[in-house]
Amino acid sequence: MRLDKFVGKSTELTKHEVTHLIREGKVFVNNEVIINEATQVHENNQIVLNGQILKTRSFRYLLMNKPQNTICSNIDEVYPSLFNYVDIDKVSELHVAGRLDADTTGLVLMTDDGRWSFDIIRPTKQCKKVYRVGLSRSIAEGVASKFLCGVQLQGESKLTLPAELEIINRKEVRLTLMEGKYHQVKRMFAAVGNRVVSLHREKIGNIILDVDVGQWRYLTDDEVNSFTH
Ligand code: URA
Repeated sequence: MRLDKFVGKSTELTKHEVTHLIREGKVFVNNEVIINEATQVHENNQIVLNGQILKTRSFRYLLMNKPQNTICSNIDEVYPSLFNYVDIDKVSELHVAGRLDADTTGLVLMTDDGRWSFDIIRPTKQCKKVYRVGLSRSIAEGVASKFLCGVQLQGESKLTLPAELEIINRKEVRLTLMEGKYHQVKRMFAAVGNRVVSLHREKIGNIILDVDVGQWRYLTDDEVNSFTH
């Protein structure tokens, strides 16, 4: 693992702070100061920052198929929290990276690694999310090009980022977004005179939903790392 990654994983520091501290000569690997943040290190090296030996924390990363009428917060409200489906230790330390509405189903990522989830949801990352959308009316001509150019949502100062629309049939489409504004899919279809009647997230970045409703699994290392490049 790279030195900056090791330091990041074992502290609450930001990427920028980590790079700065390493370049300033504040990090020692086996008693030797290392100022190149790309240096490869191993768990059994002794890595010291400001006199403290660092130990990587092991974060947890899960995907889940969210059932309808569940909520992405950690406590039950009008609907039960989807964390009720996750029977692991310290489940209250997990949060959802990119929440879905109560009536939306499908792919949800959960973790206790705040920096990782920030990487997924921050708008500048433009991580792709794919939704299958059921509509109340037939899709009108020209909606795909409108979504590609960006639409004006009520209360927003900027147009939406280019979004790809694939037509499955008259009332079913697949929409790929690179951002995650509040109720974005529902608001985009409202902006073109239609209404979403069902919404299901199929994919986030390279991660595809592959478990049944209400089931979860841990992400593979490749899946976890796919958001960090
Ligand atoms: N857009 C919505 O409108 N709702 C969701 O749950 C996700 C995206």
